[in-house]
Parts: sequence; structure tokens; C-alpha cells
Amino acid sequence: MIVNVHQFAQWKQEGRAIAVLTAWDYVSAQMIDAAGVDIVLVGDSMAMTIMGHETTLPLTLDEMIHHTKMVRRAIQKTLVVADLPFFSYQVSQSAAMLAAGRILKETGAQAVKMEGGYGAMVETIAAVVEAGIPVMGHVGLTPQSVYKFGSFRQQGTSAAAGDRILNEALDLQQAGVFAIVLEHIPSTLAQKITQALTIPTIGIGAGPDCDGQVLVTSDLLGLSDWQPPFAKPYVNLRAQGIEAVKAFCEDVRSRQFNPG
Ligand code: KIV
Repeated sequence: MIVNVHQFAQWKQEGRAIAVLTAWDYVSAQMIDAAGVDIVLVGDSMAMTIMGHETTLPLTLDEMIHHTKMVRRAIQKTLVVADLPFFSYQVSQSAAMLAAGRILKETGAQAVKMEGGYGAMVETIAAVVEAGIPVMGHVGLTPQSVYKFGSFRQQGTSAAAGDRILNEALDLQQAGVFAIVLEHIPSTLAQKITQALTIPTIGIGAGPDCDGQVLVTSDLLGLSDWQPPFAKPYVNLRAQGIEAVKAFCEDVRSRQFNPG
């Protein structure tokens, strides 16, 4: 049975922490589902981690749909949430509903994630939820706004900025999101937001006190040549992969390679 979005508020009440990881294809998603992760996020961070872009902005809706289909085919029990790419939903409520509708209809994902908690976006998110599509919110460092922020730096560091993020989270809860990602904000602020909400907060670079934690899986596996300061690699597959490839080259060049 696939996890459903209504379970998360209940888990928060019970104090059961929520584990979230990103996936981008069939292989990464199979690993995540087999390990018993609660939510798999087809994150637009894949624009940077597997496509080589400098930001998440270039990812298109068609590319997101293509990758979400691969992920969904691998999933037996984990909830699949897909990011709405930059400018597939910011222009109008109808653009957002069409983009979110395409994701659910064409990929089999059960929910979408949308960045931002400012007035017009809250109304757009409320309209998408009203149309029957579960939405996960995302506040703090919202990478699709990187050019507005000037860099991928921590957000909510002044009292006024912290209050603004808290209010955005409250507004998003009111709009009907089932959970909110808190990205790269001080842990004291994340704790305050977590206490103020009845829906779960999912932290990334937001300290230990959120209701759940999300990592970008290529960071967890140590696949990338660059990692954000809050990444936590559990293994260095990049280094191991390079050693394995070198060993293969040596075997071939010394005529020791025998595939059996
Ligand atoms: O795209 C992504 O991977 C994300 C996570 C950082 C939450 O939005």
C-alpha cells in the first residue's frame, strides 16, 4: 500500500519522523523504495545534480514528466512527489493547475511541490489543492528564486525575515498543503515554525528539530563533485566509482580483463 498524504499530520502528532529523499530515475527510485523511505521527491535539483546546469531554472515540465515516469515505475510503497519546474506555475493559477494536472495524469505521481509562500502563490496553491491535487510547500531558500536572493545563501537570518517565513508557512498550511519543506534557515527558526504548524515540516539545512528530513540523494551517496554545506554524505560513491573505472581500464589495458 502506498503511503498517502493524510498520514503525515498523524505521524507528526505521534512524533514519528518522516524520511524523504530525491530520485531522478528508475534505479535511484528502486533503491529508495526498497530502503523504506516515506516520500520520494522527484526534485528539480536534478537539473544541477544529474544534468549539469548551474541552477534549477532550465528544467522543463516535459523533462520533469519524463523523469517522474521513470521514478514512478520503480515505486511500490513510497509516496511520489514531483517538483513543478520554474515558470510552469508562477504565471497564473490556470498554468499551475495545468502543469500539476499533467504531472499527476501522465506520470502517476500522487502530489506536486511548489516553491514560495507569498500572497499570489498561496492563492495559486490553494486553487491547485482545491482542484484535487495534493501540494507540498517549500519556503526559506527556494532555489528557483536564486537570482532574487543573489546566491544559495541561508534565509531568515534577521528577525523580520524569520517572521516573514513563519507567516508564509502558516499561510501555506491554511491553503491546504500537506507538508512544508524548510530549506537552509536557522535551526531556531525551523523549530519555531515546526511548533506553530499542525502539518509536518521537512527540513534540509534547517537543523534537527523538523518533523522530517530530506536529502538530495546524490549528496547522500557522495556522487556529486560539489555539495551544499548542509549535505550529509553517507558514502563516497564518486571516489569508489572512479577507482572501479580505473581498475577496469587497468585490467583491459594489461589484458587481464576476463568477463567469464
Ligand atoms: O529539488 C530538490 O531536490 C528539493 C529539495 C532540496 C527539497 O527541492
